[in-house]
Amino acid sequence: MIDLQLTDKTHDEERQGEALVIDAPEVRNGRKLYIESYGCQMNFADSEIVASILKDQGFETTGDYHEADVVFINTCSIRENAEQRVRNRLSQFGAEKRRNPKLVVGVLGCMAERLKSKFLEEEKLVDMVVGPDAYRDLPQLISQVEDGHKAINVLLSREETYADISPVRLNGNGITAFISIMRGCDNMCSFCVVPFTRGRERSRDPHSILAEAQDLFDKGYKEVTLLGQNVDSYKWKGPDAEESAEIEVNFAQLLEKVALISSDLRIRFSTSHPKDITDEVLYAIAKYDNICNYIHLPVQSGSSRVLELMNRTYTREWYINRIDAIRRIIPGCAISSDIIAGFCTETEEEHQETLTMMDYVGYDFAFTFSYSERPGTLAARKLEDDVPEEVKKRRLAEILLKQQETSLFRLQQFVGKTVRILVEGTSKKSDKDLCGRNDQNAMVVFPATAGVKAGQYVNVHIDRCTSATLLGTIAVEVPEIV
Ligand code: 5AD
Ligand code: SF4
Repeated sequence: MIDLQLTDKTHDEERQGEALVIDAPEVRNGRKLYIESYGCQMNFADSEIVASILKDQGFETTGDYHEADVVFINTCSIRENAEQRVRNRLSQFGAEKRRNPKLVVGVLGCMAERLKSKFLEEEKLVDMVVGPDAYRDLPQLISQVEDGHKAINVLLSREETYADISPVRLNGNGITAFISIMRGCDNMCSFCVVPFTRGRERSRDPHSILAEAQDLFDKGYKEVTLLGQNVDSYKWKGPDAEESAEIEVNFAQLLEKVALISSDLRIRFSTSHPKDITDEVLYAIAKYDNICNYIHLPVQSGSSRVLELMNRTYTREWYINRIDAIRRIIPGCAISSDIIAGFCTETEEEHQETLTMMDYVGYDFAFTFSYSERPGTLAARKLEDDVPEEVKKRRLAEILLKQQETSLFRLQQFVGKTVRILVEGTSKKSDKDLCGRNDQNAMVVFPATAGVKAGQYVNVHIDRCTSATLLGTIAVEVPEIV
C-alpha cells in the first residue's frame, strides 16, 4: 500500500493486521481466541461482533496467537497487496499449526468467498473459511473443525445486520467506538470488489443503532462513528419503537436521532457518496454542534470520462456542486477523499484533472491508491488495465505530494488558534503527551497536564504543526475557538 501515511487510525482505510484483545479481564473457560484484522473500519467492527459471538461460547481473546485455541484472520480484498499480506500471515499461522495440530485456523471476511477453495483444498492453509454474513454460524463451524472436518460458510445474506449483537469493544480507548449502521454495497463501482465480497446493501434497524449509541454513552464513551460503505443511502422502513406504526428513517434523520442522545456525545460517520449526500444531511451536520464538521467524500478521479468508466454515476461538475454545498452550508468543514491513480485508459490530461480537482477542494486528508485490477469486478471484465505500472506510480507520487502540501496548508490554518478537542488518551509517541481530535478530525498532541484525562473536552492552543498533527498546549484563556 502506498497510502498517504497519516498518523490517523480512524482514517486508515487499509489497516495492517492488528490483533484485537478485550480490555477488561473476561471469565476464563480455558479457550482462547486470537483475532487479527485487516482493511477498513467495517472489518474491525466485524471482528468485535465475532468476539461477541464467541464470548457467549466462553472464549476470551488473547493478543498472543501462540497461546490461542482458535486463530482468526479477518481479511480484506480491496487491493491486491492487502491479499498478499494476509497470505504471508497465514503461512506463519500454518507453522504454528504444525507445532500445535489442535489449533483451529480460520479465514474470515472479504477474502473468504473468492479464495475459499484455494485456502481449504489447494493450499491447505486453513481449517475454516467464513464470509462476513455467516458469523452467527461460527460456534457450529468450530465444532465441525474440532470433529475433524473442514468447515465453510460463505453465504451472503440480504437481511443480516447483526443488529441484536452487542459488539465486544476490542483494543478500545473507552472513549471512541464504531457503530455499523448498514452492510454491503449496491453501487457497483467498476474497480471495486466490495459488492461481491460483502453483498447487497441493507440498513440496520435504527432502534438498535440508537440503543447501542446510548449504551456506549452510558459506559463513558464520548464519540461514535457511524459506519457503512455508503452511509448516505441508509434507509430503514419498519415499525416504530412501540410497533404501532411504520416509520421511514433516512441518514439525515438517523444522524439527528443519534445527536440528540447527548450534546456531550460526538458523532462522526463514514463513508459518504457524492451521488447520495443530500443537503438535508449537510443541514443536519450544521444544526448540531456535536455532529463533527468532517466529511469523507471520495472523488476517485477528477475526470468525468474516467468517473463514468468507474461507474461512479456522477460527473466532475456534480462533485464540485456537492463541495460548494458543503462549503456554503457548513463553513469550515473538513473534507477528505479517496483517489485512484492510473485507472484503465486514464490519459495524462485526465490525471491533471484529478490534480486540479484536488486544488479546487483543498482536501484536508486523502487516501491515495494506485489502481489494481480485482478479479470479477466490472473493470476486470470490461476494461483494459493499460496504464503502465511506472506511469501509475508517477501519477500517484504527484497526487501524494499535492496532498501533503494541502494537508500541511490546512493544518497551518489552526496555528495560533484555540481548538476544542476530545482527549482520547496518551500520545503514541510519548507518554508525557496526550492526544485527541478536533471537530474537523485533525489529531492534536499536547503535553499532559494535571487534571486532564481521556474523555474530557479541553481547549488547546495550537503552537505549530506537521503535515499530519497539530501541536499545542492546554489553553488557559480562550480567545477564539475553532
Ligand atoms: N484499486 C485501487 N484502489 C481501489 N479502491 C477500491 N478498489 C480499488 C482498486 N481495485 C480504493 C477506492 C476506495 C477505497 C476504499 O479503496 O479509492 O474508495
Ligand atoms: Fe466499492 Fe463503490 Fe461501494 Fe465504495 S461505493 S464500497 S468503492 S462499490
